[in-house]
Amino acid sequence: MRYERIQEGTFLERPNRFIAYVEIEGVKETVHVKNTGRCAELLVPGARVCVQKSDNPQRKTQWDLIAVWKGERLINMDSQIPNALVREWLEETEEGRAFLPGITYLKPEYTFGNSRIDLYAEAGERKILIEVKGVTLEEDGVVRFPDAPSERAVKHMEELSAAVKEGWEAVVFFVVQMEGVDFFTPNMDTHPAFGEALKKAAAAGVRVTAWDCHVEQESISIRREVPVVLGERILYEIRKPLVDWYRKNKRELPWREHPDAYRVWVSEIMLQQTRVEAVKPYYERFLAALPDVKALAEAPEDVLLKLWEGLGYYNRVRNMQKAARQIMEEYGGVFPDRYEDILSLSGIGSYTAGAVSAFAYGLPRPAVDGNVLRVVSRLLGSREDIMKASVKRKTEEELQEVIPADAASDFNQGLIELGALVCLPGGEPKCVQCPLAHLCRAKREGIQSELPVRTKAKKRRVEKRTVFIFRDGDTAAIRKRPSKGLLAGLYELPNVEGHLTMEEAVAYSKDIGLVPVRVKKLGEARHIFSHVEWDMVGYLVQVDELEKSCREEMIFIHPRTAQEEYAIPSAFEKYAGYLKIRLGNERYRE
Ligand code: ADE
Repeated sequence: MRYERIQEGTFLERPNRFIAYVEIEGVKETVHVKNTGRCAELLVPGARVCVQKSDNPQRKTQWDLIAVWKGERLINMDSQIPNALVREWLEETEEGRAFLPGITYLKPEYTFGNSRIDLYAEAGERKILIEVKGVTLEEDGVVRFPDAPSERAVKHMEELSAAVKEGWEAVVFFVVQMEGVDFFTPNMDTHPAFGEALKKAAAAGVRVTAWDCHVEQESISIRREVPVVLGERILYEIRKPLVDWYRKNKRELPWREHPDAYRVWVSEIMLQQTRVEAVKPYYERFLAALPDVKALAEAPEDVLLKLWEGLGYYNRVRNMQKAARQIMEEYGGVFPDRYEDILSLSGIGSYTAGAVSAFAYGLPRPAVDGNVLRVVSRLLGSREDIMKASVKRKTEEELQEVIPADAASDFNQGLIELGALVCLPGGEPKCVQCPLAHLCRAKREGIQSELPVRTKAKKRRVEKRTVFIFRDGDTAAIRKRPSKGLLAGLYELPNVEGHLTMEEAVAYSKDIGLVPVRVKKLGEARHIFSHVEWDMVGYLVQVDELEKSCREEMIFIHPRTAQEEYAIPSAFEKYAGYLKIRLGNERYRE
């Protein structure tokens, strides 16, 4: 689109919406302002502007103000241009034709409901409404609309939503009248109702798009699609500082080397309930023993549980084996590379599916766990309860919208790393070290230690138990737990419900056919599971002929064999110590 008869001038003042005074070649001229918006941040006294001389010498005002410089950027201000520009672009450019393929008819101005919509198109049977909005408000690369309240624009959005419900297609096309901006977002400061109407329209199926323009004094053309941010703009703005910070500050962790899907998966499952430092040795051992999906699918259960011994939440590893078998059967042993396929695997929820998708395959999928929820709820100053599934889902949707396609892994890992190193739980966030502090609402409002809000977990049930060490010379008794329920399939020291007195302990030993020679009371111990807490006392019972007389199903072995070959959960750590059995990581802490 070209302009003729263009001249430069200096803006002086704007006495009303329609006219401005501009100095042109040393003369103060009255010029027509071709923009109904306020443009107050652009039309400041002394601003360099472009004016166009009218081709009608009879006109009272001989000049039209059509563009203004803001720093190095030339911004078109002619309100009539966006409409014409989009029409020309759709009809005459390859990109425009690709935007709405198959257009058979295009005409300006169409009345739908009580509104006039800028363009109407047909593509075969399809009817398409296109509302064009010119955008001139820019700040730090972010462009927003409207720059002043506009009820008419709200009405337009409502009409477009109604049209979609009736089976039409509808587009809101924001023409950003300048070049080189970062993203478009509705202006929630001057007119939140428009932003809400735009979001509703998008949710109803109206296509929302924004394009910037190459602007010269004498021409303007549509250039490039600009991201549209309808969710929280803060999340969009954290992208660059977060990725830059992560790349400089990330910890070297074993699962960050060669992050293929199997390795990422194993690490993320281990890390779900367990601290990084505790996971490290398990991770190395697990990969050495079961280096790929096939090995995991074929491993005997006892081997699996032994590798997991001490990590807790043993269903995690059972589910991993189920998933490995699924991969063998359904994907020929190759870890799937589509988010939906990964999500369909046993024991994999949206967090793990997102982590594998992003870390191993670079797919722009969010990985939202409790730590990421904490970081995001502080960034947004949100008091919503992060324990609610709906809040997690919303956070996933919001992050999904902003994940950079070329840095999905570093963006996600950046959030995780920030939660681990800086945005710490409780009253301890290290805001002075935070690369996002300048964007953080909680920081601005001073409420970072009050967030996130989370409903308290239900109180754990406390269960009293008595643990026995039955010994006979070099032999001790262990037994296998049932295949269902808590610690299913693991091995344990014999134990019963309740706190037994010495007499009761002796009586129990005799009941199961043992002959106690010496009984010693051991100390107390406590172990916390997710929903239950064991409050334990213990007895060391020296017996005669352990193996021969016992009527319970038990295994009689040398403690060293128990340590090496049987998975015993760390709930028994204290009592296992009396047999010099070390469990889980204890065994490797030399
Ligand atoms: N916690 C959960 N996932 C993690 C990861 N990939 N790196 C560090 N800590 C984590």
